[in-house]
Amino acid sequence: MKKKLNYNTVWGKRMKHKTNNILQEVNASIDIDKALYNEDIDASIIHCKMLSKQKIISPKISKKIVSGLNKIRNEIKRKKFKFDKKYEDIHLNIENRLFQVIGSDAGYLHIARSRNDQVTTDFKLWIIKSSKILKENIRYLILELIKLSKKNINIIMPGFTHLKNAQPVLFAHYMLAYVEMFKRDIVKLNNLIKNTSENPLGSGALAGTSLKIDRNFTTKKLNFHKPTSNSMDAVSDRDYALEFMFVCSINAMHLSRFAEEIIIWNSDIAKMISIKDDMLTGSSMMPQKKNPDSAEIVRGKTAIIISNLNSLFIIMKALPLSYFKDMQDDKKLVFECNDNLIKNLKLTKDLVKAIKPNKKKMYEYALNGFTTATDFAEYLVNKGMSFRDAHKKSAQLVNIAEKMNITLNELKFDDIKKVCNQIDKDVMKIFDVSNSVNSKKSFGGTSKVNVIKMLNKSEREMR
Ligand code: ARG
Repeated sequence: MKKKLNYNTVWGKRMKHKTNNILQEVNASIDIDKALYNEDIDASIIHCKMLSKQKIISPKISKKIVSGLNKIRNEIKRKKFKFDKKYEDIHLNIENRLFQVIGSDAGYLHIARSRNDQVTTDFKLWIIKSSKILKENIRYLILELIKLSKKNINIIMPGFTHLKNAQPVLFAHYMLAYVEMFKRDIVKLNNLIKNTSENPLGSGALAGTSLKIDRNFTTKKLNFHKPTSNSMDAVSDRDYALEFMFVCSINAMHLSRFAEEIIIWNSDIAKMISIKDDMLTGSSMMPQKKNPDSAEIVRGKTAIIISNLNSLFIIMKALPLSYFKDMQDDKKLVFECNDNLIKNLKLTKDLVKAIKPNKKKMYEYALNGFTTATDFAEYLVNKGMSFRDAHKKSAQLVNIAEKMNITLNELKFDDIKKVCNQIDKDVMKIFDVSNSVNSKKSFGGTSKVNVIKMLNKSEREMR
């Protein structure tokens, strides 16, 4: 009786035994890497055209392959394609189908390439595409933050350090801090796109090929900047996937910090903002509850994003050159990271839309905690005092106000005179929080003139 050997006709000839069931199960990556089908077909079509241009295959066969690949792309798009674990991954699933569609000429497509250069080419193309989508989503979020800031341009709140009231700032200035972070995330994505734009196709399994291929042609047609310079490096590094997840992690961390602010500001102990019901959920037991789950999800999912970066580092750190199957999990990690980040970006954008700052509360908090003590010290510096002396004087004044159980702006001129006699009547405005905010005219400071300039500048950049 003839033993049933490997289904897999690509490398089955070499084997004496049928693949172990559990190995076949875990070796297959098709459930994950089918997401690369567009990139795989794009790269295959360009590779095929290059083979024909170089007269390695005939134009007739090339045409047949290209039309077969387009047909397969359509089948996958229309969900008419049956992915099969028997054929391991997206590359072999498509190749197998190509044999069914155009017959044995399909065998010419894999000339001068390996799945090793194929997979990393597809993956780079996918990462470049996805980075552009992330950039768009960050842009939408920034525009929403600017909208919220402009709408609430006169709101004053305390800025914090150690979560203790520090100095008065504009709410818009606070929001613009996140705008700056997100703008840098876009810059990081641009850099990563640039760094990823080296074309590995044509590196073969690891050594290159003896066939007369044209790597500049495939590079140009696939919109890469240049071909990779070393075939072993090309098939075995995943630094671009790490860089992608690193940039995702930074962006996710920024989003998570913002989510944390929202959770604190929305708490019943702060009541600094309210959130529209559509971004809140209720409790199954406590009828009164409205919880900011949207922000909590953003904060929570960040853990997965950062962990996936860590996982790929651990996979890569002990691999000699060149390709190992360990690397196959790179795609699961990257896709999951990207999915979560996209959701976090969309959630945060809608959350920003749903936020209503509580002007009264924020103002009240800005007055509390002696937030203008530094302004008084700077006032004394303007009168010629050293900052260290001024700091002491101002601390004394805070102690007096604290003892009297009043805010700094409730002090009388004579109370202040007791601490320091180098003052004029104009000292009284120093304790006004709005005066404090508008006095911060240093570049990047919180004065309203600065903030409006920065809002307009960022808006122009993002439009
Ligand atoms: N599915 C594989 C991966 O993603 C493709 C590369 C297979 N190469 C190999 N030598 N088995 O890593």
